[in-house]
Amino acid sequence: MTTVKDCTLIEIPVVEDYRGNLGVIEKDAIPFNFKRVYYLYDVPSSAARGGHAHKNLYQFLIPLSGSFDVILNDGIEKKTVTLNKPNIGLLLVPGIWRELENFSSGSICLVLASDEYNELDYIRHYQKFIDFKAKK
Ligand code: TYD
Repeated sequence: MTTVKDCTLIEIPVVEDYRGNLGVIEKDAIPFNFKRVYYLYDVPSSAARGGHAHKNLYQFLIPLSGSFDVILNDGIEKKTVTLNKPNIGLLLVPGIWRELENFSSGSICLVLASDEYNELDYIRHYQKFIDFKAKK
């Protein structure tokens, strides 16, 4: 059974240069192969994203710009992680309920995902999530 402790911060290698920094995510930098990339932008500061868990999907969240909070919940423990450095991403393993809040103005959240979009992989009801964790 996965826990919030499995959701670790991973430092992204950066090529530093006086002309600006260049972050690189190669295949082995994160513990899954990614098949999809998507991003959140123009998120109002009062908005909450997420509010679901995934059965099998791995994700890696990168605050390309600005900052936001990720509230992780494994059904037992809750933990809030603030992402605000474009070279530090958060690994989200399957079976974690997450909420994203407190987006700063102009923030961008890039997400690498281990699979294509599949609504059947989502658990969008909290009680169903608790039942899912109890069965594991
Ligand atoms: P959702 O994953 O719930 O967004 P968030 O967790 O950021 O709040 O997705 C929001 C909507 O976008 C939902 O209707 C599904 C759709 N969507 C896609 O069509 N493709 C995708 O790759 C993603 C991530 C979402």
